[in-house]
Amino acid sequence: MPTDVQTRPAVEAAQPAAELSIVIPCYNERANVGPMVDKLDAALAGIAWEAIFVDDDSPDGTADAARAIAARDPRVRCLRRIGRRGLASAVIEGVLASSARYFAVIDGDLQHDETRLPQMLGLLRDGRADVVVASRFAEGGDAAGLSAAWRHRLSAVGIALVHRLLPVKLSDPMSGFFAARRDLFEQTAPRLTGQGFKILLDFLLSTRAAPVVAEIGARFRPRTEGESKLSILVMVQFGALLLDKLLHGMVPLRFLSFAGVGAVGLAVHYVVLSGSLSAGLGFGAAQTVATIFAMLGNFQLNNVITYRDMRLRGRRLWRGLGEFMVVCGVGAAANIGIARTLYSENDGAIFAGLLGAAIGLVWNYAVSSTLVWRARRR
Ligand code: GDD
Ligand code: MN
Repeated sequence: MPTDVQTRPAVEAAQPAAELSIVIPCYNERANVGPMVDKLDAALAGIAWEAIFVDDDSPDGTADAARAIAARDPRVRCLRRIGRRGLASAVIEGVLASSARYFAVIDGDLQHDETRLPQMLGLLRDGRADVVVASRFAEGGDAAGLSAAWRHRLSAVGIALVHRLLPVKLSDPMSGFFAARRDLFEQTAPRLTGQGFKILLDFLLSTRAAPVVAEIGARFRPRTEGESKLSILVMVQFGALLLDKLLHGMVPLRFLSFAGVGAVGLAVHYVVLSGSLSAGLGFGAAQTVATIFAMLGNFQLNNVITYRDMRLRGRRLWRGLGEFMVVCGVGAAANIGIARTLYSENDGAIFAGLLGAAIGLVWNYAVSSTLVWRARRR
């Protein structure tokens, strides 16, 4: 009979169970993996630690580099995710794949000062904090590693915004370097938004416990190998995270994004329609051209923004475009049919028109999400 979990004797291995799991999100960081492990090894002497590299199938072979080390060093593991991208979601999966009492999150590009880890662990161990944030703006910290002046300004604007939402006062809520009790994260995990770069913020905005949060100063070093992955899309995701937390997760972000893209489509439609009309096209032809442009634009925007995590490429892109056009065509027919019926029944044109459009939108969203952008298909 198998031993049950509680009574199973501890395995007397050469390797003690880890007290601290270090989760390292990385994308195209091949050159930094080896030095990262060496630095952890030096900084964490006397501590039972493990490191989990979470790689999103980087084309530069980051996962191979991590796995090559893992093959020799049992403290190191590699989690390779396929078909997905995202710092925050990578961290979530890394923490959920760990089992030590405490975890820390640190960038895989050597910008965070790993020599602060023992102090961070110490605060958790003593029960003086449930979460410890390494802050660039607390005493002993600095943000010199932010590559450009605009990054400093952007960071300041972000921090000011966040202070309105966050129940605890933190000098650096945007930090990606922190440590915490794993059980706390585990409880919070189902409520996390998992969008973009700011997993600490997501964690603090999502937890229902009132954790004691401590800050220690840490230097943010300049990057020497590889490049930053911050992009416009990541900034949009930051806005989405705040919006999601403001709405308490009641409206799916994807739906909001889909509706926003729809609004852009309306503008495209209007511009192309009036352009074609003034170019001398008849109304029928102008309307057809405008519809095609709006659909193409909407498809692309949805593919890149709304469904970026399951973005269609190559042959699947063309098939998806065909399906999208059919779905939206049916949506438009339903929209017009419903609006007509309502209009003839009680002739409120605006009401009938808006309701028709709303029903068309929900139809397009629901069917696109299940048919056009469904997870992993061949
Ligand atoms: N798995 C995975 N997937 N890792 C990613 C992804 C992704 O999509 N995007 C970025 N990473 C990894 C990078 O490889 C790096 O190890 C780390 O996450 C941070 O990404 P950078 O692109 O280097 O971020 P940064 O230097 O601009 O910003 C950092 O500093 C901020 C200070 O405000 C991040 O650590 C932020 O979290 C931190 O707050
Ligand atoms: Mn970086």
